[in-house]
Amino acid sequence: MSLSLHVLTLLAVLGTTAVQVLAAPLAQCAGYQATNVLQGDSYLVADLALASNCSLYSQDIPNLRLLVEYQTETRLHVLIEDADRNVFQVQERVLPRPSNQNVSAASAALRFNLVKSPFSFQVTRASTGEVLFDTSAAPLIFEWQYVRLRTRLPKNANLYGLGEHSDDFRLPTTNYRRTFWNAESPFIPPGQNLYGSHPVYFDHRGQAGTHGVFLLSASGMDININQTDAGDQYLEYNTIGGVLDFYFLAGPEPAAVSKQYAQVVGLPAMVPYWTLGFQQCKYGWPNVEHVAQVVANYSAAAIPLEVLWGDIDYMNAHEDFSVDPTNFPLPKMQSLVASLHANSQRYVVILDPGIHYRPDYATFQRGAQHSAFLKAADGSWYRGLQWAGEVVWPDWLAAGTQDWWTDEILAFFNNSTTGLDVDGLWTDMDEASNMCGDTTCLNGSPNPAQSPPSNPGPLKGLPDRDLFHPSYRIANHRGDISASTLYTNITNADLTSQYDTHNLYGTMMASATYTALLARRPGIRPFVLTRSTFAGTGRRAAHWFGDNASTWADYRATIRQLLAFASMHAMPMVGSDVCGFNGAAQEHMCARWAALGAFQPFFRNHADISAPSQELYRWPVVAAAARKSIDARYRLLDYLYTAMRCAARDGSPSAKPLWFVYPGDVDTYAVQTQWMLGDALLVSPVVDDDAQSVRLYLPDDLWYDFWTWEAVRGTGGSVTVDGVPWTDIPVHIRGGSIVPMRVRSANTTALVRRENFTVVVAPGVDGTARGVLYLDDGESVDVGDAWSEIGFSWDGARFDAGGVFGYRTDVVVESVVVLGGSGGPRTKTGPWGLGGEFGFVF
Ligand code: NOJ
Repeated sequence: MSLSLHVLTLLAVLGTTAVQVLAAPLAQCAGYQATNVLQGDSYLVADLALASNCSLYSQDIPNLRLLVEYQTETRLHVLIEDADRNVFQVQERVLPRPSNQNVSAASAALRFNLVKSPFSFQVTRASTGEVLFDTSAAPLIFEWQYVRLRTRLPKNANLYGLGEHSDDFRLPTTNYRRTFWNAESPFIPPGQNLYGSHPVYFDHRGQAGTHGVFLLSASGMDININQTDAGDQYLEYNTIGGVLDFYFLAGPEPAAVSKQYAQVVGLPAMVPYWTLGFQQCKYGWPNVEHVAQVVANYSAAAIPLEVLWGDIDYMNAHEDFSVDPTNFPLPKMQSLVASLHANSQRYVVILDPGIHYRPDYATFQRGAQHSAFLKAADGSWYRGLQWAGEVVWPDWLAAGTQDWWTDEILAFFNNSTTGLDVDGLWTDMDEASNMCGDTTCLNGSPNPAQSPPSNPGPLKGLPDRDLFHPSYRIANHRGDISASTLYTNITNADLTSQYDTHNLYGTMMASATYTALLARRPGIRPFVLTRSTFAGTGRRAAHWFGDNASTWADYRATIRQLLAFASMHAMPMVGSDVCGFNGAAQEHMCARWAALGAFQPFFRNHADISAPSQELYRWPVVAAAARKSIDARYRLLDYLYTAMRCAARDGSPSAKPLWFVYPGDVDTYAVQTQWMLGDALLVSPVVDDDAQSVRLYLPDDLWYDFWTWEAVRGTGGSVTVDGVPWTDIPVHIRGGSIVPMRVRSANTTALVRRENFTVVVAPGVDGTARGVLYLDDGESVDVGDAWSEIGFSWDGARFDAGGVFGYRTDVVVESVVVLGGSGGPRTKTGPWGLGGEFGFVF
């Protein structure tokens, strides 16, 4: 990061005091009264009238409307909106709503109970009557710029989610506040808002089931979790706008909630196969020769490198769609990319939303012709500061922006002599981050004085609000809501305001980039990596956890963030900057992180311009750790790809916490240093600073050491594994699983795809096992019938493979290995083709 940004960031951090959650005064607000209740088989509607004036932070909205829909057997939709329908609601084009199947209330898993006066509601689980959500904890407040809803929670609730944060995975239940305001967040300790907003939580009640609560709101908000003086536990939404648009998800299994959530926000995009390879980036690589040397060094060190990344260094003066003619001249860049491609390697580059405000910059000119930029009060382009200097920002809601963005991408990222043939794009700084930290840093820059339209229209936002300083101040670590981002009074082309849409900016940029990539290579899965996210971003993009630090603390935070995104935010393709972004990576930490990264879905090493180089070949022990863990990852590539396919098909988590698998085991609820990758692998890295031992939790089940295949009987307790070399990471196969693996790893994923399989059977306590292998061409959006989904089963004596065999391949299953048993693993050698069923008795 630049020095000035660093200073701004530090100031922001210093200005932030320790979190002290003070609930908004309850005041004498009497809430609303429900009238005109109309109930059908699958819905309920009512009018809500303000009981008496409240005006806690702004003026009350006197008339509301309640809509309750039994949308599916397991999903209840509860919307409380202003009767006039002026309050902003997230645009359907940004987040399409799920279809309503109108099921009968009598058959649904969740019940809605209305209390008319003062208005409150309960959501209960039909099968048990258990109360899951109960807003009688405090009267509803619904004002122009402040909305409050409080629900009761059970004592010692097990709550998870509410990303993006780096806090404990199981959320604290006292004095805890989560703020939702997407912000550039380097050097930000736990407890603060980060780059994305996912207002969904999972409430796990052990054997009584798990449910999810999603508030579809892009509004800035604080969610407070605390208890009253009387000891009543609650969770309270405090938003600065928007409506209360809830989706209650019944579960009851934890992974069922993940799937139900993905049905609401959209199923994640299927990743191209190559994106599961190991990737290397660095901000500050000086020139193309240096970059080519990095590739050569990986090769010399025999560490597979799949994807090379270009940070802003490749650009000319940090302008999108350009190359630096001196250090990264186009012909040399083109030959770099050609040589990568010749070697089945890939190249991805960064794009920033800030478009240089330079009259003769063609991208700017064309954007202006398309009216693609946000405007200031006087109709001029709204400007701020980004890497290129003074910049304008795309208005993703303007009619011409997508075409302009697509055209720029098509023109520059082509495979002719005029452009760069990249394989994916990285959208950064898209919160949007504005280095203009306050309103005065640009001379004569635009101004806070823009007046939003007096009548924006239905669902576009109320007029005449204070769009800079709402009286309820969310706890944004940057300070004011306009600090270090776009002014919140800006009106988007669709007449909504940045105040209401701020948290959607990154999602819209990622989505526009996805659309452009699809236009560039129709039918080929686009790959977009975005820093800023919102609910549903997984439909279009992968995410990394932003600017972490090269510390053990951030190494550990990676696991918590992975768990939340992959299991609760419908974003399966995530990971942190391996070895850490800011600061100097230390050898042993980097070795551990290389191994940890190999078992997270998105696997990229990246560092800041001010950080020393940390490519994995730089220390012998790190190189050894990388070789070992990448070898394992690549042999497991199809297992991982199958997990990604399950995520894309039905929202199954690519990675999940232990309690998803053992929901009745209370000792798993707080585990945040281990994760299940897919259904079969338990990853338990060494987590303590400089340690060589790890205390890991093994649920009461049969496990097999992934590396030695030795059976380990878990007893539902922690075990200490000592003497874990710097190159190693403990991984266990869960008994009852069947794991397809390639027999050998290779230097690239394209070569891995040519290797044969060995199928590893890990019988469970009952002696049986199951598993699945998904295969396709690895890149088509629509694979038609050309896919295979092969189910494997082991009944204790017989192995069977059956299912769908649409993908043609010469690759075979070379062997089947059954673990356990007194005589150790038993192997049967094939080959068996992957074109149809096979089976045999062992
Ligand atoms: C901020 C991003 O988080 C980081 O990954 C990147 O290296 C810098 N911007 C420079 O582009």
